[in-house]
Amino acid sequence: MRVAVTGGCGFIGSAVVRHLMQRTSHQVLNIDCMTYAASEESLAAVSSDPRYRHAPISINDRPALEKVLAEFQPDAIMHLAAESHVDRSIDGPDVFIQTNIVGTYCLLDVAHRYWLKLEAEKKTGFRFLHISTDEVFGHLAPEDPPFTEDTAYDPRSPYSASKAASDHLVRAWYHTYGFPAFVTNTTNNYGPWHFPEKLIPLMIINALEGRPLPVYGRGENLRDWLFVEDHAAALVRAVECGKPGETYAIGARQPRSNLDVVRRICALVDELEPDPAGPRERLISFVSDRPGHDFRYEIDPGHAERCLDWKAEHDFETGLRRTVQWYVDNRSWWQTLRKQRYDGRRLGVEK
Ligand code: NAD
Ligand code: TYD
Repeated sequence: MRVAVTGGCGFIGSAVVRHLMQRTSHQVLNIDCMTYAASEESLAAVSSDPRYRHAPISINDRPALEKVLAEFQPDAIMHLAAESHVDRSIDGPDVFIQTNIVGTYCLLDVAHRYWLKLEAEKKTGFRFLHISTDEVFGHLAPEDPPFTEDTAYDPRSPYSASKAASDHLVRAWYHTYGFPAFVTNTTNNYGPWHFPEKLIPLMIINALEGRPLPVYGRGENLRDWLFVEDHAAALVRAVECGKPGETYAIGARQPRSNLDVVRRICALVDELEPDPAGPRERLISFVSDRPGHDFRYEIDPGHAERCLDWKAEHDFETGLRRTVQWYVDNRSWWQTLRKQRYDGRRLGVEK
């Protein structure tokens, strides 16, 4: 297959590109305009392969998109490019509307016009996979069953509202134009190359550097954690055998409270890099809560597991151990980020 991936230099997109390059024989076009969240290094292992090419363009740039799709002639598009951090969406929603909603519209429209011109066989096999989040479903109370593909949308942050809007556009293109698109909604990911403004990498790095570990509120909010390489495997299965018009809710059945996550990170960092000053749990600092903080997300992945013949290989313990070890072994990556793009508040220093 010839697979175009948008956002392929981001956290999940780079795991998808590495998976495609290292475990399949597909050709890959990575469409990524390199925002603050992009990392070229995350693709260093595969970027010199002739099966890979990078188009450093925005999904909002219609002429450039038309040109690269016409040249590359994809059989499938995996759309991951987005603004992805809830706290940033609260401070500055504009770019979330521009990228996640308007950008998805632009990409959909260009992809639809490209698809209309394909010859019959290629047209029938073409797929557009839109990668979304479980945050579009709103949040759960402790006693609620997990989200499924049938859960009604109820987004509550500018980020999740922008992703919900993009999901609706993608489904509208399927229903209205017969465009062979489908959607995945996934739980929180973690793993290597995760930009250190998100909970898990931020806590690992701060723990390694002896800085405060800023837990919002009382740390009781729950998230359901999926190791990023398991997610990449599910997405590649989906693009290879998923059905147009379908939705796949992807997760690993690993819900944890934020405080439990931070405590486990402290224990692993203590084990791998003991601190003479004492256990890292001493660094936990409860800070003011995120406005409109969603209490709990959790996905029932049964439908996706059955339809895609996929199951997460890592439970939270094995995935987190690999992740902490990766941040211990790859200090130069995040230390360079801190120097080049460091913005104290984002890395928790002023929280
Ligand atoms: P990320 O922020 O790490 O990466 C986003 C990538 O998109 C970056 O490389 C960036 O340069 C690129 N990008 C942004 N705007 C662009 C534009 N206009 N044109 C081209 N490229 C652009 O995000 P991520 O965590 O890898 O998330 C990828 C996708 O998965 C997103 O759509 C996100 O909503 C979804 N998702 C993420 C999670 C999670 O836990 N991180 C969970 C479920 C779903
Ligand atoms: P985050 O990684 O931002 O993902 P999301 O908001 O998309 O779930 O946050 C995960 C959880 O961790 C969320 O409940 C907010 C919380 N959190 C903290 O307690 N402290 C922090 O510094 C950050 C970034 C997040």
